[in-house]
Amino acid sequence: MKKWVAGGLVFLLLVLAVPAFGAAVTIYAPDGRTAIVPEEEVSAYLAAGWYATFEETIKTIYAPDGRFASVFLADVQGYMDAGWYGSYEETIQTIYAPDGRTATVFLAEVPEYLAAGWYGSYEETIKMLYAPDGRQISVYLTEVNSYLAVGWFENRDDTIQTLYAPGDRTVTVYKSQVPSFVAAGWSETPALGPAVALTFDDGPSGIHTYSILDTLSAYGAKATFFTLGSQVNAYPGVVRRAKELGCEIGSHTYSHPNLNTCSTSKIQTEIQSAAQAIRNATGAGPTVFRPPYGNHNATVRSSVGVPLILWNVDTLDWKSRNAQSVAAHVLSHASDGDIILMHDIYGSTAEAVKIIVPALVQRGFRLVTVSELATEKGYAMNAGKVYYGF
Ligand code: NI
Repeated sequence: MKKWVAGGLVFLLLVLAVPAFGAAVTIYAPDGRTAIVPEEEVSAYLAAGWYATFEETIKTIYAPDGRFASVFLADVQGYMDAGWYGSYEETIQTIYAPDGRTATVFLAEVPEYLAAGWYGSYEETIKMLYAPDGRQISVYLTEVNSYLAVGWFENRDDTIQTLYAPGDRTVTVYKSQVPSFVAAGWSETPALGPAVALTFDDGPSGIHTYSILDTLSAYGAKATFFTLGSQVNAYPGVVRRAKELGCEIGSHTYSHPNLNTCSTSKIQTEIQSAAQAIRNATGAGPTVFRPPYGNHNATVRSSVGVPLILWNVDTLDWKSRNAQSVAAHVLSHASDGDIILMHDIYGSTAEAVKIIVPALVQRGFRLVTVSELATEKGYAMNAGKVYYGF
């Protein structure tokens, strides 16, 4: 008991002795604690992370929605981790409207502005536009449509165009320059290779016509079939297939008479019956007509309703019935714009086609229909007019 009293006395003496060594000072920990220490010990506390004033231990922090709070330094990191910021400036952002307006908003508001059509950077609100003469301009997004309406383009590639001249020469010019180049002989479309129209009369004939279509199809080639109405009625399916392949279906009358010896009513019946047969088979009438034997008179020409197509290369396949000689004739005579006469009722012609088509394609010829050939060569064909080639 005595010993305990003595200990308490020593403690009391120590506390009472403090003023004797100097003034007591209040210091502040970064977590809100305070302590009263002898003036002599203050510097040691400060070195250990305490502060001399309360104000130093608190910091104002900022939420991305505009709220702010004063917290002890020890709590700052926890707030930062939760998405607060150390300065007001960090919580605001400048955003840009597509018409050039700007606004400064809290970070928390940015998504709804972006959703409403604002942008996060100025660069996103402007767009470079191109005039057909090479001029460029930067405009706000809201102005783009009015510029497009008066002929500006969003892509530079749209303001230029490649032009073509014979001999594989090309030039790339601004669109505004195109008319003067065209006037000087340049073309807006690449020079196409030579083209011819293979034509087949007197069919369709079932197996031989199918064979010819198979060969054409294998090479992406097309032909024109001057069909007889009677044969179309017998083989409507092959005519449909020809049309599906892009071939042209012409009329060669219904029963192959020499029209120059026919009455007007017979001529008209032959033409109309053939057209009806083709319509029944394909859904559309003939687009071209070839009179049997090439014979036509004023009555034929005024009754036919479509262009009359004759030929300028005659293979005489009906006479030779020889695939090699038919092929040799075509390959030695074919030139750009020709209309070549054959008949799809002979096996020898079907065999000749297997030689002719790949050989012409290999030489750079395109095999097109009669109407395509006319268009390509600049002919506007007229009903009742006679054409031999282009
Ligand atoms: Ni014929």
